[in-house]
Amino acid sequence: MDPNMLKRLIILLKMNKYIFSYAIILILTIISCSNIKDDKVLFGKLKNGKDVYKYILTNDVCEVEVISYGAIITSIKFPDINNNLVDVVLGFNDLEPYLEKHPYFGAIIGRYANRIADGKFKLNNIDYNLALNNNGTSLHGGIQGFDKVNWNVVSYDSENKRYIKLNYLSKDMEEGYPGNLNIYVTYTLTVNNELKVEYEAETDKTTIINPTQHSYFNLSGESSGDVLDHLLVLNADSYLPVNKNIIPTGDIRSVEGTPFDFRERKKIGRDLNENDDQLALGNGYDHCWVLNDYGKGLRKISEVFSEDTMIKMEVFSDLPGVQLYIGNFLDGTIKSKKGKQYIKRSGFCLETQYFPNSPNTSDFPSTVLEPGEKFFSKTTFKFSIQKK
Ligand code: BGC
Repeated sequence: MDPNMLKRLIILLKMNKYIFSYAIILILTIISCSNIKDDKVLFGKLKNGKDVYKYILTNDVCEVEVISYGAIITSIKFPDINNNLVDVVLGFNDLEPYLEKHPYFGAIIGRYANRIADGKFKLNNIDYNLALNNNGTSLHGGIQGFDKVNWNVVSYDSENKRYIKLNYLSKDMEEGYPGNLNIYVTYTLTVNNELKVEYEAETDKTTIINPTQHSYFNLSGESSGDVLDHLLVLNADSYLPVNKNIIPTGDIRSVEGTPFDFRERKKIGRDLNENDDQLALGNGYDHCWVLNDYGKGLRKISEVFSEDTMIKMEVFSDLPGVQLYIGNFLDGTIKSKKGKQYIKRSGFCLETQYFPNSPNTSDFPSTVLEPGEKFFSKTTFKFSIQKK
């Protein structure tokens, strides 16, 4: 072959090699970018075809994922004592199961977390009837609560990935609640591994409000079985006993000498099989504790610890109550993120809140929000490793 021709051929081949490599790089970039828009990752599509994105918060130690649907926290990953990342919240890998029936995994609950007896209450002499969805009561905002709507992302710190602020406008009489309620939830991840949840809201008519965060935690890992060995502290001298519909009777009962005493570190499961009428009514713990020092701003209300991972979670809140729910109704039918089963009691919720059924219990702190007032509340979940 003519040596010039050979040279030209080699150059062409080399060029082609470069062109080929560039083409591959371009294709890979297009593929990886097709799921990412402004640092948010496509998580799935709603039934109406609208895209739902996942937003990542990170501080290089801890990683939190939030989606706009239900303002749901889909994962919280924190390194265990051996530096292995552990996902400490129950949930799903994609959107579809979140659109089906599930027990409020990771969602923001509203307008009113927990139960309102018969779904009825009176405000300014007007009777209101809420959507009933739980044994004749209204639970967690009704049939389509804040957990089942797509929130607007009003700001996301796409550069440092430290916070996301979401908004939902709940229309007048939605699920039976009066007033257009404009609510914002901000999730912030700090350098100290604190996940802050802040709620702000305003209304144009007198209404009631009681939002909460409904994450199911398992500090040994979301697919690791039940949480009965977790060590729990609740800074509460009393709790609210319930009736057969898990509605508080209105009494405030001391925890002293009962299975409800978590003032000293105790395994969640230690007293669970005691013969106690309240444990029977709740199918286990599904009660609101009356937190100490309400009215003094943000204070530590709880601490939970897993001896498997040595991960500790501390909870701080400005609210009067916390519902400890230990997944009594999980029965293994829901698949975990790792394809295992979410068995009974495989997660615990610490739902900071006003007391259940407050609009019908005059002795409980008020949940009424008037036009012109600003609702604000804050709860922080702080993760760390404790070497015993
Ligand atoms: C309630 C439980 C309920 C669960 C899931 C909790 O907040 O207290 O009674 O079963 O949510 O729906």
